[in-house]
Amino acid sequence: MPSMKDNILEYFESQPGIVISGGFIAKELHISRTAVWKNIKTLIEEGYDLITVPQRGYYLDKNSDKLSEKLIRKELRTKVIGKDLRIYPTTTSTNDLLKEIAKSGGAEGTVVISEEQTKGKGRMGRSFYSPQGQGIYLSILLRPDKSADKAVSITITSAVAVAEAIDKVAGVDTRIKWINDLFLQEKKICGILTEASMEMESGKLEYVIVGIGINVNKKNFRVPEPLEGVIGYISESGGIDLPISRNRLIAEILNALEAVYFKDDFSSVLKTYKDKSIVLGKFVEASIDGKLQRVKAMDIDEDGRLIIQKESGDIYKLNSGEVSIKHWE
Ligand code: BTN
Repeated sequence: MPSMKDNILEYFESQPGIVISGGFIAKELHISRTAVWKNIKTLIEEGYDLITVPQRGYYLDKNSDKLSEKLIRKELRTKVIGKDLRIYPTTTSTNDLLKEIAKSGGAEGTVVISEEQTKGKGRMGRSFYSPQGQGIYLSILLRPDKSADKAVSITITSAVAVAEAIDKVAGVDTRIKWINDLFLQEKKICGILTEASMEMESGKLEYVIVGIGINVNKKNFRVPEPLEGVIGYISESGGIDLPISRNRLIAEILNALEAVYFKDDFSSVLKTYKDKSIVLGKFVEASIDGKLQRVKAMDIDEDGRLIIQKESGDIYKLNSGEVSIKHWE
């Protein structure tokens, strides 16, 4: 049941930029003006950009980009993904939080989003920079009826869905670096961390958590030193519709993922993935048997493995790990 605060917020979110008086809302909701004022005060404390216009009322700043279930649902066309959608002001890691939900029987399609993460996780034990308000930190719970060796295909499917959603919302052409990093103008704008749990007896996947981290709108502060020049923001890419509405982008990601995930046509996903690849045909550095080697990225096979050619001419398949691009041309 929506709370009084949610009901009040709805008036502002449905007409951003329009001044609405406290008296009007009080009358509509059959509550006192003081109750309206108290709830608006709480909303402001929670970070909603509600502006006071003396003698007239309040309005929601049109450029407000606070995460909102209501605004996400406005654009959401899914049946399963996002049916259960939970937004948190802060969390350690949305993947960790969703893992707990998965273990206690959470339904396929449950989505957890946070305004910030205090222990955002990247691949290979790295951390993921997750400051408040300028990114999307989101995890999706899937329960595919597949064997564990198919988990990579889910990562690839997710990367394609996220790339297509970003392209649609921002009017850009996102590129993919094997296996699941998204790039714009040679800067990483998104990383995906897929974590899976397997049933030991059957070798089947019990659940998969797809954790997506996107750098969306750069605010006026500097990124930490080691990330400078390495990560980028969609808002810096010169796309068509800036700044990006995070709520809309989230909805389009969930729409795109539901469409490709349930279609279960991996060969067409792989085609899009290859078209968007920035590594194919390039010389890259890859760690093979613990040694960093210069290799040529030749192809991606139907299991999502990167087929590379060593300097010796030998062909080798990479299952996971990471490649780095030394020369972009
Ligand atoms: C990478 O680039 O190495 C993967 C980054 C994945 C980050 C996302 S943010 C939402 C989810 N929660 C996490 O702790 N990590 C993923």
